[in-house]
Amino acid sequence: NKVVLAYSGGLDTSVIVPWLRENYGCEVVCFTADVGQGVMEMDGLERKAKASGASQLVVKDLKEEFVRDYIFPCLRAGAVYERKYLLGTSMARPVIAKAMVDVAKEVGADAVSHGCTGKGNDQVRFELTFFALNPELKVVAPWREWEITGREDAIEYAKKHNVSVPVSRKSIYSRDRNLWHLSHEGDILEDPANEPKKDMYMMSVDPEDAPNQPEYVEIGINSGIPVSLNGKELSPASLLTELNDIGGKHGIGRVDMVENRLVGMKSRGVYETPGGTILWTAARELESLTLDRETMQVKDMLALKYAELVYAGRWFDSLRQSMDAFMEKITETMTGSVTLKLYKGSISVASRKSPYSLYREDISSFENGLIYNQADAAGFIRLYGLPTRVRAMLERGI
Ligand code: ARG
Ligand code: SIN
Repeated sequence: NKVVLAYSGGLDTSVIVPWLRENYGCEVVCFTADVGQGVMEMDGLERKAKASGASQLVVKDLKEEFVRDYIFPCLRAGAVYERKYLLGTSMARPVIAKAMVDVAKEVGADAVSHGCTGKGNDQVRFELTFFALNPELKVVAPWREWEITGREDAIEYAKKHNVSVPVSRKSIYSRDRNLWHLSHEGDILEDPANEPKKDMYMMSVDPEDAPNQPEYVEIGINSGIPVSLNGKELSPASLLTELNDIGGKHGIGRVDMVENRLVGMKSRGVYETPGGTILWTAARELESLTLDRETMQVKDMLALKYAELVYAGRWFDSLRQSMDAFMEKITETMTGSVTLKLYKGSISVASRKSPYSLYREDISSFENGLIYNQADAAGFIRLYGLPTRVRAMLERGI
């Protein structure tokens, strides 16, 4: 038997390789997805995987798929978890887990494994995806089984099994990076009263150190999906990559929050989502032109549920997929461009345009127009306020 392991090359997953061989007597195929976590993490990975006992390393570049099929639909839906979290890690798990199911098929594996702890959300996201796409795969989650409790333990286990410990010193934070965001958890962040240290951030400069000159960016959107940056058409991943540079330079998209994990506990995390925050703002601005009042209300209500499903790892549930069909339909006319002004961590809107804009100057203008007759408002208010008047009459015995 054979197992496909979600492999990063860090200490934890390096220890999992010999552990799987020892405890399950199986061949271990390591799998690394490139979701934009950075080139540094990819260096020398195959050598490392084999040195720890894997039979092979499979690497897949999922960057375009990730942005096009996971990030952009969430963006279009307006999904935000608990008011602040733009779901960077939540969206990456299903695309990685889906690829693992494919690799398991390609190499003839009957099991899959991941290095998520038993206390977090990620284990749920991986495993719900495995369930949805191949319910026959066995799942091994070493963190929920083994005796290894800390870093020292893990190093000792590695040494005992003649596995060279990754030399790169591990950061004190638990981080997860991809094209959309970078998350920081752990260490001093575990006390919500502690302000993050300035040197913790990696994708964005401190807004205080950002340029004194604002910068304008123009985002082109086609049916709810970003297609261009400053007039230049770009692929989903390249658009986001360029926007991350620009946003990061201006200190955009830092979020510090305490969130409710699916397993019930609260956890404190800090996120950097520079490009994503810009795109999110642009999308909402365009909606304000192209969606009518009730559609926007229903969309916002569903966005809340959509975000919850994504956070909880239910990407492949038919509920999320059906909601996505709704989102696609009502954003058909969400086309146009938005220009935003970035300045020291803040985003303000400078311009929005759409060929499908529902805004009409000839109606909305303070100048009198022909379509809207102010005299109509008198009757409208009388009937709209009828229940209010009836109640007031009752209270006063009129
Ligand atoms: N709390 C965030 C989430 O649940 C980030 C998780 C980060 N994951 C990690 N393996 N460091 O989506
Ligand atoms: C983990 O516990 O593996 C990371 C944090 C999370 O999944 O929420």
